[in-house]
Amino acid sequence: MDNNRSQWGSRIGFILAAAGSAVGLGNIWKFPGRAYEGGGGSFLIIYVLIVIILGAPLMITELSVGRAGKSNIVSTFKNLGHKEFSWVGWVGVLGAFIITCYYSHVGGWVLRYVFAYALHAPEIYADSPAYFYDMLGAHADGTTSIPWVALAFAAAFIALNGIVIIKGVSGGIEKFNKFGMPALFIMLIILLIRTVTLPGSAEGLKYLLTFDWSKVTFSTILSALGQAFYSLSIGMAIMITYGSYLPKNENIAKNTALICAMDTLVAILAGFIIVPGVFATLGADQIGKGGGFAFVSLAQMFQSMPGGRFFGALFYLLLLFAALTSCISLIESIVAFLTEKMGLERKKSTIWLCVVLFAIGCLYTCTQAAIPMKGIWLDGTNGVTFPAFCDFMEYMTDRIMIPICALGCCIFVGWVWKPEQVVKEVEACGDKFRIAGIYKILIKFIAPVAILMILIMSFTSGITLS
Ligand code: PHE
Repeated sequence: MDNNRSQWGSRIGFILAAAGSAVGLGNIWKFPGRAYEGGGGSFLIIYVLIVIILGAPLMITELSVGRAGKSNIVSTFKNLGHKEFSWVGWVGVLGAFIITCYYSHVGGWVLRYVFAYALHAPEIYADSPAYFYDMLGAHADGTTSIPWVALAFAAAFIALNGIVIIKGVSGGIEKFNKFGMPALFIMLIILLIRTVTLPGSAEGLKYLLTFDWSKVTFSTILSALGQAFYSLSIGMAIMITYGSYLPKNENIAKNTALICAMDTLVAILAGFIIVPGVFATLGADQIGKGGGFAFVSLAQMFQSMPGGRFFGALFYLLLLFAALTSCISLIESIVAFLTEKMGLERKKSTIWLCVVLFAIGCLYTCTQAAIPMKGIWLDGTNGVTFPAFCDFMEYMTDRIMIPICALGCCIFVGWVWKPEQVVKEVEACGDKFRIAGIYKILIKFIAPVAILMILIMSFTSGITLS
């Protein structure tokens, strides 16, 4: 074990960095659409309950494993005396690696849109789908080309991440989040004031505040479950790595509560921005989720609101900050692995990693529309299919790697290392872990069953995490 390991410089720095990891694209462009599908208030209640019952205990688990093992995600299991569980770490690192390849490219597209709204919003308004697909290399005349602009912005986005990571845990990551997270909250509030004061937004507000239980089905619950996992950055080595930089006197349970509360607050605020905004401008049935919705449909919302160009640029800036703080956490967990496990130097490994991430991520951007490369998939609903390679990359992580890594952690802690160790780790700060009894039941039984359900459903019905 390395006694000179980096540590967070302050409690608030750690909380903001971990919340920065959690708050990401998922909160802003997935949560509102899911909340709409799940009947507004009814979904919000289900989501919050899942975060409390499953999300928070799993985050406590990952942070404790990280702090006790004091190492990157692969070595942590060995340090805790269970080398045979290192495979969980390998799945986590590999999953984080693949996610970073595409998350960083999407971050690049977002960066492109910040500039696009600031400089030539009318071009987007003129034909928002054409603008988006043109950026991805599929043009209106039916021709395709290498999407150089998108790739160049992806390179810039990755370089930004690299600069922060090279500066280190407290000098780079913590500092960036201390500025980035408050900035993100301010942007959220400004956008919230804009959309809820649009004429016609009251219907949207009402929708989110009423409980339509007729819209709640089993798949609503799974959707909330997947959203909570992805949103809290669970099952990807991140919280193990971030926990490993946490001093012993920090109360893991209290910090987890704050991180989960911040992440959920941002998701709910995003819901209160998007749902009333879309109700007021495009009409309720236009609410969607994901990149297509954010890059294409929302253009019409900004076009039809006063000051839309400014608020459009601000919205993408918000997405940019959310993507940056998440992507930084992903890259950090891989860098921690490369420096500690492989013995590489921090600066060198960050630069090389960024180059490789960019290169593999090019496949993601190019197979959106420009290059017809396919992956292969098998599920219970559609049998063998050949999805676009970009979708294949997402399926691999969302449907296999994240749930398997999360399940591995649960089994490890619940049945091998034992929940008592987590209780001990939480109580190392001197405070009592008041829900220790409930925690043990959750981690041994409830959490593994819920994760198994996600894993099975993703193969039978194609429900996905992100
Ligand atoms: N939690 C992030 C989001 O909501 C996504 C993410 C996943 C970040 C994995 C880091 C690691 O978008």
